[in-house]
Amino acid sequence: MRLIVNGIPRDVDVEPDMPLLWVLRDELGLHGTKYGCGIAACGACTVHLDGVATRSCQVWAEDAAGVEITTIEGLGTPDAPHPVQAAWIETQVAQCGYCQSGQIMQAADLLATMPDPTDAEIDAAMDGNLCRCATYPRIRAAIRRAAALRAEGA
Ligand code: FES
Ligand code: FES
Repeated sequence: MRLIVNGIPRDVDVEPDMPLLWVLRDELGLHGTKYGCGIAACGACTVHLDGVATRSCQVWAEDAAGVEITTIEGLGTPDAPHPVQAAWIETQVAQCGYCQSGQIMQAADLLATMPDPTDAEIDAAMDGNLCRCATYPRIRAAIRRAAALRAEGA
């Protein structure tokens, strides 16, 4: 089947019910998206499907065909990072880093739909993304910073 990943058509020969997370990591070598739980309970595997933050461990490959899939590798570039990525670096959010791709993808979706969220709205939107290193205060600060960067047109 053909998947559109980070704007590039990718042909993969996989079972229709293979989780998209497996396709991304094992078939396409996009290791930025992480496996944490496999049961939609941690958010480490979050990608965008048509711009919407989605747990890729819960999406079958066949259901991702024809959808614009964006992973952390396609969100920005080192020279032109997405405002959320820029804010994350500036705020030095990451500890071990394992959860951070999912956090960033979730935060990017939040700001796309809610450009200036309150702390309560941030907490509600990020509630399903777990971080064993407890970087939550910095995540919140980085999202506020990313909102400011977006407002500045960054
Ligand atoms: S691996 Fe998908 S939500 Fe945890
Ligand atoms: S930074 Fe370590 S799990 Fe979140």
